[in-house]
Amino acid sequence: MTENTTRHATGSTTQAGIPAVSDRNSLTVGPNGPIVLHDHHLVETLAHFNRMNVPERRPHAKGSGAFGTLKVTEDVSQYTKADFLQPGKETDLLLRFSTVAGELGSPDTWRDVRGFALKFYTEEGNFDLVGNNTPIFFLRDPMKFPHFIRSQKRLPDSGLRDGTMQWDFWTQNPESAHQVTYLMGERGLPKTWREMNGYGSHTYMWVNESGEKFWVKWHFLSQQGVEVLSNEEAERLAGADAEYHRRDLFDTINAGDFPKWDLYVQVMPYEEAKTYRYNPFDLTKTWSKKDYPRIKVGTMELNRNPENHFAQIEQAAFSPGNMVPGIGMSPDKMLLGRNFAYADAQRYRIGTNFQQLPVNRPKNEVHTYSFEGNMWYDHSGARSVYAPNSFGDSWSDETGAVDVSWESDGEMVREAYTLREEDGDFVQPGILIREVFTDAQRDQFVETVSGALDGVQEPVLSNAFQYWKNVDATIGQRIEDAVKANLGDDTPGV
Ligand code: HEM
Repeated sequence: MTENTTRHATGSTTQAGIPAVSDRNSLTVGPNGPIVLHDHHLVETLAHFNRMNVPERRPHAKGSGAFGTLKVTEDVSQYTKADFLQPGKETDLLLRFSTVAGELGSPDTWRDVRGFALKFYTEEGNFDLVGNNTPIFFLRDPMKFPHFIRSQKRLPDSGLRDGTMQWDFWTQNPESAHQVTYLMGERGLPKTWREMNGYGSHTYMWVNESGEKFWVKWHFLSQQGVEVLSNEEAERLAGADAEYHRRDLFDTINAGDFPKWDLYVQVMPYEEAKTYRYNPFDLTKTWSKKDYPRIKVGTMELNRNPENHFAQIEQAAFSPGNMVPGIGMSPDKMLLGRNFAYADAQRYRIGTNFQQLPVNRPKNEVHTYSFEGNMWYDHSGARSVYAPNSFGDSWSDETGAVDVSWESDGEMVREAYTLREEDGDFVQPGILIREVFTDAQRDQFVETVSGALDGVQEPVLSNAFQYWKNVDATIGQRIEDAVKANLGDDTPGV
């Protein structure tokens, strides 16, 4: 067959900008002869292909996202001096959605918590709120996080995911009960990313112009409403369209139908944290909306798809450590642990200077005293590489009390949080099952949990029955009965 040898009108180039001779035929000795090593274009093409991937995120590998804006419609200046939260402000943002445990190619509709990671490109630097679609989490000490993620991933020998390992971790760590109840409830299978809420989950600090401090929880409520998939539909989609959520977001935005969320906050006066009936910094607990009603801040809209998924989504780097003036951390040990983990993961996953990539770069000028390293692109010319210096290169020198701070005293210890009056691990999940779920949701919950316990080995299975009985005696018994009935079905005579 004779090949058409016409080149594209302007041809292509190598990465060095040199005209590439052919993107179809390698250089050989005669048409049937061996390939020669000095075909630089071939060698470079193969070498670059081998380096096309970066390590996937661990966790939250599978996801996608879009760009948009946050418009502040209300006045929350009494609580924070953060510039981008002042009345009337509009700020560009990136929002990435994800699943937690699945790998890069895994289906979007597996039951899992969903990531809800935001980067606000503010005039005072990037503020990242790296949250989930649930207001709580499985744990309250960062030491446990790598163990948790490994237990939800794969067995070391077979490489299979394993219910026994997942339930063993959960039942050995009863503080997981609230999040597992949420996950096994209907919100564990969102219909689309557009139709779910997002939460900052942790308690953050806000500080106003006069230095007054508040504790704050962030809630993004979907204007599209909250919609969920049934177990059967999710399972079908996992096979039929593994990219169901990614496709939905991309297509909807392309069609000009822009999803929106209203941003609310719960605000707790600084002093009240000391005596609130739950530890307000325990990530496995919510704050009652009766005690701390939601206060509206503004509206967020997603209106621009990525032009290049790899450059703008895969290389996006979110970090709970990225705070701006007026917003700070809290004594939540998980949040403090996350402060370290993300940028460290990104230096490994993307490269030392990942913050210089267009998607991660702040809008304002960077004047850092960190220099060089791989891919040092936005270089600092000849300016001083040390501070203080005598040559007019500015440096920072705040001293004294820090505005985003709290009092901390006592001996250094390795201990769990001190428990408060209503801090039991099973209190809030029990309320969720008894007072929030409807009868139909309770029935569905029993079916989902008993299904998820299918194949789980002893002693983990009995521990799981006890775990649910601790949450609620009736629901625990129903789960045990359902699992035993399923066992009977599968193994006649047992
Ligand atoms: C101590 C606890 C935790 C540690 C050590 C941790 C660590 C990590 C790491 C290393 C990544 C990958 C980052 C990357 O490669 O870019 C990640 C991703 C993520 N984590 Fe966590 N995590 C913790 C808890 C949480 C909690 C409590 C939440 C939500 C409230 C959360 C939400 C997310 C999200 C949404 C992503 C994906 C961000 C993106 O879209 O790029 N994580 N986590």
